[in-house]
Amino acid sequence: MRSSGLSGWAWVKTDLRRRRLWAVSLCRVVVALTLVVSGFLKAVDPVGMRAKVDAYLTAWGLGLGVDSLLLRSGVLVLAVLEFMMGVQLLLGMRRRLTITLLVAFQTVMTALTTYLFFTDTVEDCGCFGTALTLTDGQTLLKNVVLLAMIFFISRHGRYVIRLVSERRQWLASLTSLCYVVALTLMAYHTLPAIDFGPYAVGTDLRQAYTAPDADTPALLTTLCLEDENGNDLTDSLLASKGKTCLLTLPRPQKADDGSVDRINDIADIAADSAFGFYAVVPQQTVDAEVSDWKDRSGGNYPTLKADPAQIDAMVRSNPGLVLIEDGKVCGKWSFNNLPATGGEHFGASQNTAAGRPHEALPKLVMWYIIPLLVVLLLDRLLIGKKFYQHYILRQHLKTKTMRKKIVAGNWKMNKTLQEGVALAEELNNVLAADKPNCDVVICTPFIHLAPVAGIINAEVIGLGAENCADKVSGAYTGEVSAAMVKSTGAQYVILGHSERRAYYGETAEILKEKVNLALENGLKVIFCIGEVLEERESGKQNDVVKAQLEGSLFDLSAEQMSNIILAYEPVWAIGTGKTATAEQAEEMHAFIRGVMADKFGAEVAENLSILYGGSCKPSNAKEIFAKPNVDGGLIGGAALKVADFKGIIDAWK
Ligand code: 13P
Repeated sequence: MRSSGLSGWAWVKTDLRRRRLWAVSLCRVVVALTLVVSGFLKAVDPVGMRAKVDAYLTAWGLGLGVDSLLLRSGVLVLAVLEFMMGVQLLLGMRRRLTITLLVAFQTVMTALTTYLFFTDTVEDCGCFGTALTLTDGQTLLKNVVLLAMIFFISRHGRYVIRLVSERRQWLASLTSLCYVVALTLMAYHTLPAIDFGPYAVGTDLRQAYTAPDADTPALLTTLCLEDENGNDLTDSLLASKGKTCLLTLPRPQKADDGSVDRINDIADIAADSAFGFYAVVPQQTVDAEVSDWKDRSGGNYPTLKADPAQIDAMVRSNPGLVLIEDGKVCGKWSFNNLPATGGEHFGASQNTAAGRPHEALPKLVMWYIIPLLVVLLLDRLLIGKKFYQHYILRQHLKTKTMRKKIVAGNWKMNKTLQEGVALAEELNNVLAADKPNCDVVICTPFIHLAPVAGIINAEVIGLGAENCADKVSGAYTGEVSAAMVKSTGAQYVILGHSERRAYYGETAEILKEKVNLALENGLKVIFCIGEVLEERESGKQNDVVKAQLEGSLFDLSAEQMSNIILAYEPVWAIGTGKTATAEQAEEMHAFIRGVMADKFGAEVAENLSILYGGSCKPSNAKEIFAKPNVDGGLIGGAALKVADFKGIIDAWK
């Protein structure tokens, strides 16, 4: 059925995309899970896998021997590679790299299995470690299907949707890597965490040997333990009541002799408790090899011989220990993890080997799934936090649109009366022709105020002074009071400019007086704050700015604050061409708003316009004004040319 609102080609395209997404997702899950499972199974039983890989190599005349370090590391790398590629694909991480690796890996594997199919070199491919045996034909089919799926995925790579954020994908990768490496190393050090072999703990050997059914593995039914004289003792050993302990030595000459004292202790316990203790070596072992082991270990126990494949299957350790009780396997140990011999007996209660797959698998999967889920959940929560932050930002931008946007010019000590009037006139004409999107103010020297007030349209351009006196009136030669400024027609006054603080010694106390007088006379105050370079370099900018606010404005009421505009002007950026970055400006403006919110409450702070000043130009104004806490600019040099000033005003458009 067609989806509503879409017709013709648009619908076909959308539907096609949806179907592609499903197809890619399906292939992705199949390929990824196959890889994860095969990597996992290799990691669970690397010793068994080692033998399979060595069988390949031997068939090509490249056999390394199962004890070689190269082979051990090779199996670890193979398990890690498969597992990690599967996880990356499943979670949609490092898409391009993963897909490229996958194509290469699967192409090689398919070529290899095609060769095996036609040459019949080895019995089992070992794709799924020792857990699952496929015929050459099944393996080839599996690999061809996987290769086709991987090509399909690579062709439509963008449909592989990421399930963990790019920022935290390393954490998911690290969790997976630690898991698969730990699994392999632990299996090498002790025994496989899951026993896929026919001799798993709990197996009733007596039953399998005497009354096998169709499902009984051949390795059990054909078990043959012969003594040194060639007598088959299997029957009597499995039929005997009580315990029998087998010390398996798949390669006696390579057997680790680091734990021989513990082994001998166990043999002694066996002798004291009258149960059997035998070394089991491969049939082809020569007497010299057995004597060598006895010399090295100091052990004195009878030796049995068995098929090497059966010894390998019993326990993945050289030497290893298997405890049989009443014909049942009830314990297995690697030489690195032998049972305690403090007590008189040892038995099933001390067993550390894993059980059969259905017992061990759920626990093992949990060890991976739970940490991974924690990582994914954390990722989701942090993404949620990011959304929340965006929401707050949007709210800020909304309130910002409610705040007054202002571009104010500070002419400083520039322009003669005639030049100033001409500049104001030109600006007035330009803005009359193209209405600004913000409040525009020009702050001029005192001499310009009255004439400029007479020529500008007060609806479009506000007028302000650059200073006023800290006294009401009287014998203060050269000073101009707030009342006098107001009488010119001006509505604003700049106070606290860094140049006045620096060159005319205006302290926070003096400025406090000026602010009060300006407000009493109905002027709006553009109050400047900002740190010098050394203060920023020593990281004191916040303290400095906060102290300036506290010193001059903190005695005002919330109502008076509605006539205050703040201008953050980092002194190192004034007239230097060195602008603060938009981020630096935003950081400081947000800090200032926070300080004002703490003192006067959120409403006053949200309604307060905070301007940025310092080398503001048409080229950078837009980026700076776009920040949520920047409400405009206080412009010096660029306010002296109409084109530049207009360029900055237009940043609001
Ligand atoms: P400039 O824009 O020339 O850097 O001056 C800024 C200023 O001091 C405005 O008051």
